[in-house]
Amino acid sequence: MSRRLAIGLCVACCALPTGVSGDDHVRVLAASCAACHGTAGNSVGGTPKLAGLDRSHFILQMQSFRDGSRPSSVMHHHAKGLTLQEIEQLADHFATQPRLAGQAPRPLGGM
Ligand code: HEC
Repeated sequence: MSRRLAIGLCVACCALPTGVSGDDHVRVLAASCAACHGTAGNSVGGTPKLAGLDRSHFILQMQSFRDGSRPSSVMHHHAKGLTLQEIEQLADHFATQPRLAGQAPRPLGGM
């Protein structure tokens, strides 16, 4: 193996962990919320929309789910898996998403 290639490989490996930026990390986290809260936080069912949600309201709700002061069906699990820093990053992320007025699609053959 040439010395140049060896150095190249080393640089590539060392660059990997820092290759994931904070932005990418928050997008991956936000994607895990999309199943219930919709794409970019615009849910169409009964789940609350996260898009455009006030930052401090978001953080307060997540902390309340975490410490159990706000009872929830599933959110306490999600909130407990996040660090405070991740919650703040998610709050920033969802606060800047445009809130779309969406309705749940009507069932086929319905009214
Ligand atoms: C399995 C479905 C599900 C997933 C996944 C999920 N949520 Fe929720 N979320 C809910 C439900 C349902 C509520 C309404 C409160 C309750 O019953 O738990 C809620 C409520 C919330 C609220 C409170 C909104 C308000 O205005 O009161 C926030 C904030 C929130 N979720 C953030 C998140 C974040 C961030 C993620 C991803 C890390 C996430 N949720 C993943 C189902 C989900």
